[in-house]
Amino acid sequence: MESDPTASTSAAAPGGGKPLLRALGGEAVWPPPLWLMRQAGRYLPEYRAVRAEAGDFIALCTRPELAAEVTLQPIRRYGFDAAILFSDILMVPWAMGQPLRFAEGEGPLLEPVRDAAAIGGLAVEGVAERAAPILETLRRVRATLDAEARRVALIGFAGSPFTVACYMVEGRGGRDFAAARGLAYADPLLFGRLIRMLVEASTEYLCAQAEAGAEVLMLFDSWAGLLPPAQFRRWVIEPTAQLVRAVRKRHPAIPIIGFPRLAGPMLAEYAQRSGVQALGLDTTMDLRWAAGAVPAGMALQGNLDPLALVAGGAALEAEARANLAAMRGRPFVFNLGHGIVPQTPPEHVAALVRLVRAG
Ligand code: CP3
Repeated sequence: MESDPTASTSAAAPGGGKPLLRALGGEAVWPPPLWLMRQAGRYLPEYRAVRAEAGDFIALCTRPELAAEVTLQPIRRYGFDAAILFSDILMVPWAMGQPLRFAEGEGPLLEPVRDAAAIGGLAVEGVAERAAPILETLRRVRATLDAEARRVALIGFAGSPFTVACYMVEGRGGRDFAAARGLAYADPLLFGRLIRMLVEASTEYLCAQAEAGAEVLMLFDSWAGLLPPAQFRRWVIEPTAQLVRAVRKRHPAIPIIGFPRLAGPMLAEYAQRSGVQALGLDTTMDLRWAAGAVPAGMALQGNLDPLALVAGGAALEAEARANLAAMRGRPFVFNLGHGIVPQTPPEHVAALVRLVRAG
């Protein structure tokens, strides 16, 4: 891994001189720190090799030596400013006792929970214990970064209660999560109970991640944008605010990035009321509009289209330069607007890193 001439200064300052932590703290670090959602994954041959060794995706997430290895692969290859824990947002329902598997070509499959008996059967207490292998992954990655890459920050994460509830009720991925959103209208008390359980379980899980070495936490709310405004306030903003408050009670200073995907104009209210300190922006968001819509000085992260990264060449260059131009002079973290897709050529990622590093 690359060495860092400022390593000793970083060790002295709490929050470290790490570029990602500085940007999340409101500093206009330039060139901006850079990492990519799903930076560990199938587009990398070295990931596919470890994935094949593990066999199954959950086995990969729960074998710390393998999960730590794939977390670090993109750091070695590209020198990103952050390593993100290799795991999945659905490991929380898994740790709550909901049967989960990842079927080849089909994505995640869960036994749906749609009534009081099924929801009542889920465990909230003990989630951090059942997630022990995932916490061990964080400890190992943090030890390696501390020894070899002190400029690189470690990000832990969870899904936001609403997005995780979507998968838990639906039992699978989808486009509209009709069963989950239908339940939220038909039986808001029951849906609210599930959301409260997720707030509690995710609080435990995220605090345990901070204690295991995560320096930043990110909340993925991939399906937030499905909701009309009143539902968005009730199921996205309010539970996120509760979760953030609960985590901050134990970890007052840890930066939390919210990613309310496809929130559109609701982004402004989310930014003001959720309590997160930084915002991940999806591909549809206009960066200059977002900068005007959020509290002054709030760090923004995003939002290159993953398909521009697949295309590469002049298209990639134009899109990346436009994002840099829009965000120059304000706290910004360069990222994609959604996860890397498997067909991404690894050399396009290398080209993007060179371009962003040149400012
Ligand atoms: O970003 C990273 O590199 C860290 C690891 C990470 C994964 N999933 C690994 C993964 C993170 C942060 C996630 C988040 C996640 N998982 C989200 C939120 C972000 C988003 O993409 O909207 C969601 C909705 C999930 C649920 C999930 N996991 C789905 C729908 C799928 C199947 C789709 C797919 O890409 O296969 C997964 C599987 C998954 N999670 C893979 C990876 C690398 C692919 C598994 C494989 O190797 O076969």
